[in-house]
Amino acid sequence: MRHVLTERLGISHPLIQAPMAGSTTPELVSAVSQAGGLGSLGAGYLSPQAILEQAAQVRAQTDKPYAINLFVMADEFTADAGLVTRARERLDALMVKEGLAIRTSLPERWAFRFSDQLAALREARPPVASFAFDLITPAQLRELKQLDIYVIGTATTVAEAKAWAELGADAVGLQGAEAGGHRGTFLHEPEDALIGLFALLPLAARAVDIPLIAAGGIMDGRAMLAAEVLGAAASQLGTAFLACPESSAAPAWKQDLQQAQDHQITTIRSFSGRAARGLRNRYVEAMSQRAEELPPYPILNALTSPLRKAAAAAGRGDLISEWCGQAASLVRPMPAATLVAELMREYAQARAGLSA
Ligand SMILES: Cc1cc2nc3c(=O)[nH]c(=O)nc-3n(C[C@H](O)[C@H](O)[C@H](O)COP(=O)(O)O)c2cc1C
Repeated sequence: MRHVLTERLGISHPLIQAPMAGSTTPELVSAVSQAGGLGSLGAGYLSPQAILEQAAQVRAQTDKPYAINLFVMADEFTADAGLVTRARERLDALMVKEGLAIRTSLPERWAFRFSDQLAALREARPPVASFAFDLITPAQLRELKQLDIYVIGTATTVAEAKAWAELGADAVGLQGAEAGGHRGTFLHEPEDALIGLFALLPLAARAVDIPLIAAGGIMDGRAMLAAEVLGAAASQLGTAFLACPESSAAPAWKQDLQQAQDHQITTIRSFSGRAARGLRNRYVEAMSQRAEELPPYPILNALTSPLRKAAAAAGRGDLISEWCGQAASLVRPMPAATLVAELMREYAQARAGLSA
């Protein structure tokens, strides 16, 4: 399966840099692809225009394959006005308390229309498209296949992996409970879909016969090999690439990753309204009580986004969404191409060690 996937994708290494909406840049994506992995642009928060621009920037920097990733969502969202008002009061009170001048405001839209983002993706025509948060429709899949785009769906359980395989996806990205960032869960309650990668991989390998991509807590070449032994055709690493100079994660966040202790890394709803894994910092401590009274994704995400940007600009890592996987402190701040080379050196060394 490893060779099936890498050969079909035209990449040298069984290594995918995870899409990370808000943190991946054309520089990061092209550096990883140029180094022989598959760089992925996290385009979930980008306007259709920005998707086209960033895809063009990747293309200008490498002719190697790369991926664009989207969150599969409805086109329109209606917010409960009472929930929004109460959330704004709480958020504004927190900003006052923390001495930040920024206050919440009502955005023009809660999120870009998924159908417009997908149209931009089709126009950009990347070799690979990956999706999280839900299935795409059979018609959308057909359109992507007609453009010869390789489709990867995100699953957090065996049932979700089967759903993508039955739809006709080319591969499934398995997101273990360890994984940083938003959970891709779409068939279950978030707390029921926290399956560890070591359990999920062999279970999914038994259930579906398309290539599996392992994600969650993989920070070095040894873990990539371990995932392969359990049935993965490639590994997808997010947190490992967050501290690279090419990532746009805030400097304070990059710094905090290195000191993050495993027990401080938790699932958080209070930034975006959707379960996501990250560091339990000052904001999380303040907002996680009565988190269930906050509006759902993407409403809360849109309300907190300007606050997070202002906090990042003020160097307040303790007030931003410091998404990361459970093994975050193994992060190595180095250029992405160097990290790819280092990961593949460790992977080869671990493989040689096993056969010795
Ligand atoms: C900062 C951050 C942002 C993420 N954004 C996305 C995203 O936009 N789309 C997506 O499918 N997955 C996203 N993920 C999840 C990754 O695809 C992947 O499952 C995860 O990074 C793997 O775990 P790791 O961080 O321990 O390597 C994100 C992860 C992080 C850390």
